[in-house]
Amino acid sequence: MFKNIKHDFVEKRVGWLAIFTVLTISIGGLVEITPLLFQKQTNAPVVGLEPYTALELEGRDIYIREGCNVCHSQMIRPFRAETERYGHYSLAGEHVWERPFLWGSKRTGPDLARVGGRYSDEWHYVHLMNPRDVVPESNMPGYPWLAENTLDGEYTAKKMEVYRQYGVPYTDEDIAGAKEAVAGKREVDALIAYLQSLGTALQQQAN
Ligand code: HEC
Repeated sequence: MFKNIKHDFVEKRVGWLAIFTVLTISIGGLVEITPLLFQKQTNAPVVGLEPYTALELEGRDIYIREGCNVCHSQMIRPFRAETERYGHYSLAGEHVWERPFLWGSKRTGPDLARVGGRYSDEWHYVHLMNPRDVVPESNMPGYPWLAENTLDGEYTAKKMEVYRQYGVPYTDEDIAGAKEAVAGKREVDALIAYLQSLGTALQQQAN
């Protein structure tokens, strides 16, 4: 009954098969992606979200350079086991200015999406120099060179300008003061400033 229909036609003609394949995948992709582009919830910043300061921004780049994201995710899933341990699950609106985002899924260490404010700066300093000084069973490596390297801030303003092109609301003053805000600071201080900022926009809202 179905003998003469469709399947035979495409399966024997590679060109048509390719065209139909691309068409099918495109429709599937568009159906998934298009609504997200128009949903405010996914591209509007949460109330109280602040762009990274110059120092935090440099800290974020150090975080990426050192590969912290290889062991740490920054995305709390909406499951009880996660929210009880880490706090409110992550919202898209908290990450709208992140390029690239650092959500990840590999958790050799704990999720860091809301680590801001959980420990003191001193704790982070000791932990980053040698994690075993504060968490004896830790297998996280130490990063002692971060206390020796200093930032020169040469590219900080440029980076902020690029982020501004992508819609991050940096003011002219932010950008003008960027170099001064970071030059001479130790890398470890930038990294700690970044860590202390993580997830705090939503924490403030909840309080
Ligand atoms: C090889 C995997 C690995 C890498 C790379 C790594 N960590 Fe960790 N991290 C861990 C583990 C495991 C723990 C849990 C034990 C501990 O607290 O030291 C941890 C804990 C932490 C904590 C405490 C989190 C909490 O809620 O208690 C912070 C903050 C942290 N890491 C930051 C960093 C930063 C910043 C970097 C990059 C400079 C980094 N980690 C690189 C594995 C890693």
